[in-house]
Amino acid sequence: MSQTIATPPTVRLGTDVVGRPINRTDGPAKVSGSATYAAEYNVPDLWYGYLVNSTITKGKIVKIDVEPVLALPGVRHVFTHENMPPLAKPNHSYQDEIAPNGSPFRPLHSPEILFNMQPVALVIAKTFELARYAASILHIEYEVADFTTDMKQVRHRAFEPEANDSYVPPPKPYGHAEQAFAAAAYQHTGEYAQPAQHHNPMEMYATTVEWLGEGKKLKIYDKTQGVFNVQEYLCGIFKLAKDDTQVITKYMGGGFGSGLRPQYHVFFATLAALELQHSIRLTLTRSQMFSFGHRPATIQDLKLGTDEWGHLTSLQHSAVAETSRFEEYAENVVPTSGVLYNCDNVRLEHRITGIDVNTPSAMRAPGAVTGEFALEIAIDEMAYTVGLDPLEFRLLNYSETDKTTNKPFSSKRLHDCYREGAARFGWGARTPEPRSMRDGNLLVGWGMGTGIYDVKQKPTKAKAVLAANGHLTVSSGSNDIGTGTYTIMTQLAAQAMGLPIEDVTFVLGDTTLPQSPIQGGSWTAASVGSAVQDTCQALGKKVLQLAQQLENPPLAGLSYEDVQFVNGVIRANQDSSRQVTIRDVLAASGESAVEAEGGAKPDTAKQSKYSMHSHNAVFVEVKVDEDLGTIHVTRVVNAVAAGRILNPKTARSQVLGGTVWGIGMALMEETYLDNNFGRFMNHNLGEYHMPVNADIHTIDVIFVEEQDDIVNPLGVKGVGEIGMLGVAAAVANAVYHATGKRVRDLPVTIDKLL
Ligand code: MOS
Repeated sequence: MSQTIATPPTVRLGTDVVGRPINRTDGPAKVSGSATYAAEYNVPDLWYGYLVNSTITKGKIVKIDVEPVLALPGVRHVFTHENMPPLAKPNHSYQDEIAPNGSPFRPLHSPEILFNMQPVALVIAKTFELARYAASILHIEYEVADFTTDMKQVRHRAFEPEANDSYVPPPKPYGHAEQAFAAAAYQHTGEYAQPAQHHNPMEMYATTVEWLGEGKKLKIYDKTQGVFNVQEYLCGIFKLAKDDTQVITKYMGGGFGSGLRPQYHVFFATLAALELQHSIRLTLTRSQMFSFGHRPATIQDLKLGTDEWGHLTSLQHSAVAETSRFEEYAENVVPTSGVLYNCDNVRLEHRITGIDVNTPSAMRAPGAVTGEFALEIAIDEMAYTVGLDPLEFRLLNYSETDKTTNKPFSSKRLHDCYREGAARFGWGARTPEPRSMRDGNLLVGWGMGTGIYDVKQKPTKAKAVLAANGHLTVSSGSNDIGTGTYTIMTQLAAQAMGLPIEDVTFVLGDTTLPQSPIQGGSWTAASVGSAVQDTCQALGKKVLQLAQQLENPPLAGLSYEDVQFVNGVIRANQDSSRQVTIRDVLAASGESAVEAEGGAKPDTAKQSKYSMHSHNAVFVEVKVDEDLGTIHVTRVVNAVAAGRILNPKTARSQVLGGTVWGIGMALMEETYLDNNFGRFMNHNLGEYHMPVNADIHTIDVIFVEEQDDIVNPLGVKGVGEIGMLGVAAAVANAVYHATGKRVRDLPVTIDKLL
């Protein structure tokens, strides 16, 4: 990957650290192995769990023979629906913070089987190996019922889901899309499809529950993107008090959305710990991780029309996605189609249809990446139909306001992403004709795509403690799923208090810390960052007050706005000779520490007047060997406009990861459902393909920074998801340019090319 980022010097940086490519503060712990993951907490006297998953798709358990399993020396218990303790019964007790509408899956609630690989029993034994062996001999008899896992068969039953906290129905149609389409000088119609895909974070899901005795706090080391969400869920089901439970996630080997909702492993581990009054560890296998949620397979119809110059006059985008039979999971697939381009006649529609699978779940850039891959291939097709360069066509239809709401953008430098990305890529040298560019016997294709993603901020609290020795500890019960939260929060706190980052520690991932939202939706930098900033300002004001209690205070009469905290001192803005070190202030105060609490929430009154989005423009080169059907993505330029970049190194890593995933989405990722068995067939990394190092060549990341004081006081938009957008379409469009073959159903595999 060609772009190099300067490593910070080993000398102290000073405290002006926001915006600098600081190394990860959690890097040494991860590299040295001292970072502890959920399955690594060595609590004493652990028993181990192993889950048994259903081998049928629908029906019920008629017999479950636990006796031979219990007879094995070392097996402690087998939990089944037949021996469950009384737990909360109502649906809503199982509904977590972001549960879709419907009835959440209640493990071991009844003999009923709702989806293949549903967990149906939990074996507890003295060792993991014994638990796994014991689970393998548990004999279960089922009564099999009819099912369907083929969404095409039930597409006619699709319905419009109701709104909830995560799903916003698309805007009502505006203009006259059908008439405008009929009258259009150029038309394009196409059906696009994307299969189910599974998150495959490196770290398998796991929970270690530490039982400290009756009446003692239950410590739950879980792999989750939201410790508070898990705590609330467990307290509801097991009728526990929040004070009696502590959910902890200090490090996470990737989440990508699979850990937004509490997953069934944490239910089972907690159940076993409470019932057996013992510490329990439950880990999932890679295969089992294919049983708890996936990106929903989606089929989409696009209809575009333009006038004779190529201005879009009609845009219609309609999607049908799968959900389970028991929850109405819905994503925001189509709305951004109306936001991205300038068109007055728009009809957007999203529907879902239930099949016999587990409920799908959010996966990196949920909704957006699904809708936009289809839109951006269709836009490429429309550009060819009109006879315009794909970049020129996009610029011609560039939207200066959000037409779905008639609001201005809080900021939008997408045109600079196009301009800088195209220049870096060398787009101007492209010859438009498919199959017109070659490298020896390889066909060369250049394609592009655009991405747009919602900007969000959630209410968050934080706490700061400045110790007498000058060390600052800031905390919030957020999470770092590998994104760089530890690092950027440390930077923000260091800068706000004028302390070197070495003197700042950021603490997260614990329900005993101030309330923080789930880490997801690209909102963590904005939400937790704003809370950290607010809290450090409150702390700074307290320290300034103490400074003014010194004898002959050098900062007498100055308010917080009149001073700056920099390089360990507080000094007057107007006269840098008037200053005092923070350590001297603390020493003189006699206090062992100064503390402040704070927080931030979105300024909805201000924000409601604007449309807030991040954008990117992606340029891709592919080389296709027509004899072999192989496709290599040889070059990518991903130009991102996501507000202010707090750390160009961790932000770039996010965009690199997203780009790699976009390449995987375009060319490899697909979980195959065998509709005869209702089971995902390739539930392992041998057969679920994703890019490895050899598949990835040059990726260039450009940040086009934006000034934006609407989105939040920090001006950040978040970068966890935007980098993945635009990529899959750009690859598919490049393949078309190389080969003349238009593939509209992902992934673009050899069989579809030949
Ligand atoms: Mo993200 S799919 O909100 O972890």
